[in-house]
Amino acid sequence: MSDVAERQQWGSKAGFLMSAIGSAVGLGNIWRFPYVLYEQGGGAFLIPYLVAMFTAAIPLLVLEYTIGSQMRGTSALSWARIRAKYEWLGWLQAFFAGCIMVYYSAILSWAISYTRFAFTMAWGDDPNGFFFGSFLKLSDGPMQIGTVNLAVLAGLVLLWGSAFLVCSRRVRGLEKANLIMMPALFILMLIIIIRGLMLPGAAAGLNTLFTPDFHAMLNPRVWLAAYGHVFFSCSLASGVMVTYSSYLPKKSELTNSACIAGFSNSFFEILCAVGVFSILGFMAGQQGVPATEVATSGIGLAFIAFPAGFNTMGNLGVFFSITFFFALVVGGYTSLLSLMEAFIAPFTEKFKISRRKGYAILCSLGFAASILFTTNGGLYILDIADFFINNFGLVLVGLLEAFIVGWLLKTGYFRELANANSYFKFGRWWDACIRFIIPIMLSSTIMLSIRNLILNGYEGYPMIAMILYGALLIALCFVFSFVLQSKGWAIPVQTAEVQLPPGRGKGKEGK
Ligand code: TRP
Repeated sequence: MSDVAERQQWGSKAGFLMSAIGSAVGLGNIWRFPYVLYEQGGGAFLIPYLVAMFTAAIPLLVLEYTIGSQMRGTSALSWARIRAKYEWLGWLQAFFAGCIMVYYSAILSWAISYTRFAFTMAWGDDPNGFFFGSFLKLSDGPMQIGTVNLAVLAGLVLLWGSAFLVCSRRVRGLEKANLIMMPALFILMLIIIIRGLMLPGAAAGLNTLFTPDFHAMLNPRVWLAAYGHVFFSCSLASGVMVTYSSYLPKKSELTNSACIAGFSNSFFEILCAVGVFSILGFMAGQQGVPATEVATSGIGLAFIAFPAGFNTMGNLGVFFSITFFFALVVGGYTSLLSLMEAFIAPFTEKFKISRRKGYAILCSLGFAASILFTTNGGLYILDIADFFINNFGLVLVGLLEAFIVGWLLKTGYFRELANANSYFKFGRWWDACIRFIIPIMLSSTIMLSIRNLILNGYEGYPMIAMILYGALLIALCFVFSFVLQSKGWAIPVQTAEVQLPPGRGKGKEGK
């Protein structure tokens, strides 16, 4: 019996969708999108954002779903089935997922510590000093690693241990976790938003957020920011969607599912933006400054600005702190599970080892690697690795996926596979997105990032640290991907059930 026949499956379509949404909805929705929306033209940004959703995120989601569900494999196996020579592209996705997984777990561990601190608001009057000083004991620079932080280490043990227990037997475990945690996250977010909207100053915050700056739409950078953001936010190009969709039945509806997953993520994002800016509006009011002064994103928002804001809320602050950090943990945890699956499952196929064994070995390695981020220099390393992987690694993979399918294989063939069992069929506009819009927008995004990096550096980090933790990391992912491609498979790669896409110019066989 071939591995295809035995392939495990999701328990239900809802389970698959919830898991795909669970991967997409994460820290990015909570702490990245609100600021991007504000910074790139407020309400007016929604137009480039929607255009980017329709012309890049949804088409790529459909492409990844099609590849996974039709090639019946994780990212590496699916690409090996498409063409043996492209197997490395599947591995590259798995390795990037592996890198993100390692530092993502560290951020989640901080959020776990902060959920605990929230009960007593342990950060006191100086959240900034508390975070960098008392909590992380940050060193002076990325080349000074220092020692391990035991509280963060304990959080990591909890995260890796529980993820192992949840996922290592079957995908059904992963599915159950998502089916429970995503609705829970939604409720937590609703609580934050509803209570946030009742705060004095919330309206001012929302005005700051949504007031449209239509001029921004004339700026090409705003459009690139929209493409960059939707791409990141939908968890594309990291193997997650290919691997998740490989557990679908072969004859699955795909186009509608991609729209549901993509737009649920957008809905979540916009809700988060409303919640975050209501709270920022309140904080600005307390400090007597305009909301523009308190707006920030990322780690600074979650671990410094918000705790400072919660301090000014009296008793309500404890309630907001606990709900907020808990939501951060829940939202991030489902993304972490998806990263583990995308990284680990390809190895179990390539070497034909059981899930349990694969998870045991690679979770141990991942845990060991994540200890690096519990050190005093951890935050710097994390920041540099994250910057390189998001701005160069993932975008490059998305570009290559679209380029290979659009120019080296037959786009129309993939469209027919996508449409075969779908309620509504995508027309030739989809081919145009894959062949032109996505390659143009993603390559421009990469070029703009390279230009910025050369002109401005990144956060003033020394060159050696950027090379070591950023460029070298990406280069190593490439090297390992080619090494793995050169090794044989322990399972049959080509099976009768998988139809291979034709190359270009090889007659009409694929139409
Ligand atoms: N989409 C995630 C977020 O919004 C971030 C992310 C990007 C991600 N690529 C991923 C998460 C791959 C899991 C897997 O936070």
